[in-house]
Amino acid sequence: MTPGSTDRACVLRLEKIRLSFNGVDSVLEDISLEMWTGETLIVLGAAGAGKTVMVKVALGLLKPTSGRIYLFGQDVTDFDEQQWFQIRPRIGMLFQEGGLFDSLTIEENVAYPLVNRSSLTPDQVRPQVEEALRFVELGHTMTKFPSELSGGMRRRVGIARAGIADPDLLLYDSPTAGLDPITANNIMSLIIQERELRNATSAIISHRFQDGHMMANFRYNPESKRLEKMPEDSPMRARTRFLVMHGGRIVFEGSERELDQSRDPYVAKFSMQRSIH
Ligand SMILES: Nc1ncnc2c1ncn2[C@@H]1O[C@H](COP(=O)(O)OP(=O)(O)OP(=O)(O)O)[C@@H](O)[C@H]1O
Ligand SMILES: [Mg+2]
Repeated sequence: MTPGSTDRACVLRLEKIRLSFNGVDSVLEDISLEMWTGETLIVLGAAGAGKTVMVKVALGLLKPTSGRIYLFGQDVTDFDEQQWFQIRPRIGMLFQEGGLFDSLTIEENVAYPLVNRSSLTPDQVRPQVEEALRFVELGHTMTKFPSELSGGMRRRVGIARAGIADPDLLLYDSPTAGLDPITANNIMSLIIQERELRNATSAIISHRFQDGHMMANFRYNPESKRLEKMPEDSPMRARTRFLVMHGGRIVFEGSERELDQSRDPYVAKFSMQRSIH
């Protein structure tokens, strides 16, 4: 159990997850982790480390070879498609590839989690969709299609869609990959705003140390409408953890300070990314 977490619920628990696609090489090897309500988890790792596969296991999109998955206190490992369909709306997901439906408009894409899980019509959810799109400064794109938007704009649509149904857990898979540094920082700023506005439990996956650094050190001030550095004694700092993945394993878990001080050559190299961005 995480220190200080006794009064908190376990949102996600992965227990000794192993996954191999061909029965020989493990893509995930003995992955165990826990996420508690209100926490921010930052998963760092280079290309091919197993980050996306791990997220897909947590969402029931890939079945582990062995190990158990718990979501919101339930053992979901052996859930059938119908049961996953019921539980997935509690998770807001930004997929690495964007995951927008090409044949739907931006409005329809963002409305999807709401319309899909309730009997509400697109007309009924329109005000909420408009608000979510305004949040990511894309209110003017309602009638456009994903192919008409830039890569950064599509990520912002994905962020609006991930949060619209007020999920209990937000997962962002590589939200800044392939973006220029300015757009990447804007995306991170939106994710931080969303964390604070929704008081959400969030996990962000990235190969950029800098993304984790922003999540771990900045908060959104709704009055000044700006990001500001968290005070040293902010409870949010204590609720932020870094994981580093390498070769399908978790090779580090701890605070940013511990990451900086790690003597593990791979982990140390990873935290040094700070100096090359
Ligand atoms: N469907 C699949 N079949 C076989 N191998 C797969 C499949 N999906 C992923 N892999 C392999 O699993 C490993 C981990 O892939 P994953 O997509 O999780 O990496 P990642 O850490 O998300 O990398 P990136 O930063 O590039 O997104 C890779 O070696 C990949 O080739
Ligand atoms: Mg990935």
